[in-house]
Amino acid sequence: MRLCREARGWITLLLLSWSLPGAAGAQAGNVERRIDDLLSRMTLDEKVGQLVQYSGFSEDGATALREGRIGSLLNVIGAENTNRVQRIAVEESRLGIPLLFGLDVIHGYRTIFPIPLATASSWDPALVTAIEGIAAREARAAGIHWTFAPMIDIARDPRWGRIAEGAGEDPYLGSVMAAARVRGFQGGDVTAPDHILACLKHYVAYGAPVAGRDYNSVDLSERTLREIYLPPYKAGVDAGAATVMSAFNLLNGVPTSANTFTINRILRGELGFDGFIVSDWNSVGELIAHGYAADTGDAARLAFGATVDMDMMGGIYAAQLADLVRANVVPEAALDAAVRRVLRAKFALGLFDHPYVDPEGERAVTLRDDHVAAARDAAGKSMVLLKNEGGLLPLAAGVRSVAVIGPLADNPGDLLGSWHAMGRPEDVVTVLAGIRRRAGPAVTVTYAQGTTVTGGEQDGFAGAVEVARAAQVAIVVVGEREFETGEAASRASLDLPGVQQQLIEAVHETGTPVVAVIMSGRPLAVPWLAEHVPAILQAWHPGTQGGNAVADVLWGDVNPSGKLPVSFPRAVGQVPIYYASDATGRPATAEKFTSKYLDLPTTPLYPFGHGLSYTTFAYGDLVLSADTIAAGDTITVSATVTNTGKVAGAEVAQLYIRDRVASVVRPVKELEGFTKISLKPGEQQTVRFTLGPRELGFYNRDMQWVVEPGVFTVWIGWSSAEGLEDSFVVRGN
Ligand code: NOJ
Repeated sequence: MRLCREARGWITLLLLSWSLPGAAGAQAGNVERRIDDLLSRMTLDEKVGQLVQYSGFSEDGATALREGRIGSLLNVIGAENTNRVQRIAVEESRLGIPLLFGLDVIHGYRTIFPIPLATASSWDPALVTAIEGIAAREARAAGIHWTFAPMIDIARDPRWGRIAEGAGEDPYLGSVMAAARVRGFQGGDVTAPDHILACLKHYVAYGAPVAGRDYNSVDLSERTLREIYLPPYKAGVDAGAATVMSAFNLLNGVPTSANTFTINRILRGELGFDGFIVSDWNSVGELIAHGYAADTGDAARLAFGATVDMDMMGGIYAAQLADLVRANVVPEAALDAAVRRVLRAKFALGLFDHPYVDPEGERAVTLRDDHVAAARDAAGKSMVLLKNEGGLLPLAAGVRSVAVIGPLADNPGDLLGSWHAMGRPEDVVTVLAGIRRRAGPAVTVTYAQGTTVTGGEQDGFAGAVEVARAAQVAIVVVGEREFETGEAASRASLDLPGVQQQLIEAVHETGTPVVAVIMSGRPLAVPWLAEHVPAILQAWHPGTQGGNAVADVLWGDVNPSGKLPVSFPRAVGQVPIYYASDATGRPATAEKFTSKYLDLPTTPLYPFGHGLSYTTFAYGDLVLSADTIAAGDTITVSATVTNTGKVAGAEVAQLYIRDRVASVVRPVKELEGFTKISLKPGEQQTVRFTLGPRELGFYNRDMQWVVEPGVFTVWIGWSSAEGLEDSFVVRGN
């Protein structure tokens, strides 16, 4: 293999250091020395170049590459393409510094897994780590070094389309998922040919835009920031995430891409993040539109001052940073520090020694059989059975005819969901195809589209009604198209788009039992379905193998075990709705002057943590290790879970607490632990949780983490709404 010029001189030293005791430390020392050497030889423009990122590659860009004016590219894809472009940087530029190739690998590269909101519904961090590992393997083989994922923004407003990309409403679940995804992408060693750098995004509070409108400003208290929006970042940083992306939004009047409080003080200072920060797409330039920077020079100064190291697509650093250094507005030492952070990432990936990938390797791993099998497994484990009246599901062995109906039953592209990287519709198994395959020759499967997702056509209703009438069960697949979710896809309504509900009503009127399969990137408000349709399966956008996974669940080959990571509202008017709300002085009662709506209950349609199974679980024996503990001590809480039904199943036991009286009022319930267990019929297991200062504490009015004495209620349950309850006392020290 050809080595870049810089690398040749260092290779012997590097190989030596690996075989010495304390190799990691020596290796780090060597890397720093190599970076020192590079920095000593780089011109100002070459240094700035490392902080510049553009999308795609055209021949015009080749000159900039040769001159060392680009450090990273996004959206250059495939082993052959990345090699070709990398060769220019490595072999034709003065210092031969390799490029970093980035891509939004959000839920798979070519094998597409369910959207992140779906895999968060698995409540299975090991599964999430495994699928991100597969995504990383496929991406790295295609020359990608860096994913702009995980998106770990807490989202409590489903109008915001990007709720699809995260883990939902809860900081605890969000933190577990953030760490699991980082571990999956990065593995233990990103020099390995099957791992990539992770990027925690969008720092910070991007998921709380006013009115749920993407890119809108965010206004929230420091407490809410610290208690709700920051924990997943802490978890991601602690898991070793190499990079962070600053966001588009204002936070309390200051853009997050130039926010010295949230970045310099909290992220770098308190959380100890020492990797590099990339802006979001032109979020440096947008400081001007925000009215925060006067011009591009000002924008560069402000973002760079907040240690946003790399400018994605803005061209602002490229145009301004060198001049700012020459004018002594930006110290050259700060520039060097930013370049060092970027170069460290390139060294960590081993790019100076292995800048290219083998196209054969790409072909070998893309859509590998075990990847596809994992996509099917993940999709099955991510679906949430919302309702199952009369045990309609799984379909009885005697079912000999099913009608598959609905605009999403056979629409391959939509199963992929938003941000599906290189996922292709032709790889997708639709629900109709999955059902046909599973049903086999003994079952008649008929199909009618009925209507389109967003159009208002009703001329297909008659055909849908006809096939429903002739079948024993009607499976109606409805929801949102993939482009209705994700970035720039906020919705003011949470209803099923178009006339899909009317289609279900028409099918329901036939008297044939209806199973509604909902594919969406957000919780939809479906009260009519909840009342009238006997079975509802929330399938989210389930990815490449979605149709097989739906069939697996409908026929009971897979027993559903997903639980909601987000509350399902009854109507958009309840939004934002989340279980961990603060207590009000006037909780809702029949009394008029209490906190409620005139026209709807205050409770969600389906609560956070809800999800049914084909078996039943009984909870018992809630035991606390003590009645009283000292602040600073721990307490253990346990309960038994028994599979009381007839089939094997998995259950997510959830632990919630409430600090009853505190100097800052605490939420009515907070998730502080969960565990997913598999039980055979009749089998019992004890689930055990430990609560200590991390779980029992909160930020006091001085933003210090404290555990205050008093009574705590604790629940172990099967959703945020139901569980066994007890309490204990924390004594003051
Ligand atoms: C803008 C999005 O907000 C961000 O999430 C994404 O990583 C970049 N574009 C790059 O595609």
